[in-house]
Amino acid sequence: MSALPWSGSGPVLMLAPMQGLTNRALRACLIERAAPDTVFTEFVRVQARSRKRIPRADLRDITAHTGPVPLVVQLIGHGVDALTEAARVAEAAGAYFINLNLGCPYGRMTTGATGGELLRDPAALAVLLRALRSAVTVSFSIKCRAGYADPRKIFELLPIYEDAGVDFLILHPRTVEQQYAGEADHALTAAVVERTGLPVIANGDICTAEQGHHVLKQTAAAGLMLGRGALADPLLFRRLRGELPATVDALRRRREVGEFLEDLLPRYQELFCGDRQVLMKIKDVLNFIPDESLQSDLKRMKRAKDMVTFQEELQRMKQI
Ligand SMILES: Cc1cc2nc3c(=O)[nH]c(=O)nc-3n(C[C@H](O)[C@H](O)[C@H](O)COP(=O)(O)O)c2cc1C
Repeated sequence: MSALPWSGSGPVLMLAPMQGLTNRALRACLIERAAPDTVFTEFVRVQARSRKRIPRADLRDITAHTGPVPLVVQLIGHGVDALTEAARVAEAAGAYFINLNLGCPYGRMTTGATGGELLRDPAALAVLLRALRSAVTVSFSIKCRAGYADPRKIFELLPIYEDAGVDFLILHPRTVEQQYAGEADHALTAAVVERTGLPVIANGDICTAEQGHHVLKQTAAAGLMLGRGALADPLLFRRLRGELPATVDALRRRREVGEFLEDLLPRYQELFCGDRQVLMKIKDVLNFIPDESLQSDLKRMKRAKDMVTFQEELQRMKQI
């Protein structure tokens, strides 16, 4: 199998990992409705103190994945031993694509630096990446911010990524300190693509087909990764491929959002335990739908205290 979780000549379109959101029910829903080329797990927290390293539920998630769309398993954690052992456990569980989180701005665990904080110590990061690379025989990639405080740090980090032999990288061109403030700087993505032979996937602030096409043209990246935009518009992958019109009017949009939620709800009922948890989880998805014209409907759904009311509000939204 290729070390890259995509094939074909066109740019790859990936669904971003989003903790608390891109669980296997949501991934399956988006795979059926919009067909991203590649999907990611939410970050899997590597347990520094437990010998199991990867929580049982996450292992189940890895082995449960079937179908032709590649699943990349993303690890977040601290410590060479813990992370390499976790990567081996993931590989043994059937993961073919393993990714390390070098971006999460809320990463510090009690055990030490994780996620984006790992960018602060390039020497230690080099050791970690080399160890991870040789710990697994399968694909190994990273998802990173441009730097911790200075976005130009990426140019110091690139040789480290190349020397470690990562198979590809996903760049969210903000700093860790920035969190989500300002804009993703895709001029920086373009400079990174030019500087490295590694396949680079552009991520950050791509919410419409027009923006996606613009970023591809501007950066010559190997593909795009969509996070919040893929929740706001569950058909964005298909719009980017030109299978659907690039924009839709408010009425059609209402219908599309309604159909998406109607499809997602029974999947959440199967994955989560009891109406309370299902409602809590699906309401988290509603927070990412930005349309002004849908806000009063979404507000009523968020206020729903039981499943019957939620479903009534959903039907009401679809009928208007
Ligand atoms: C709620 C939420 C959860 C996220 N969880 C993860 C995660 O588990 N792993 C990760 O690498 N990035 C995570 N991210 C970052 C996204 O994958 C992505 O890099 C970021 O949102 C920028 O892309 P976007 O503008 O397309 O959303 C998360 C983002 C959000 C908003």
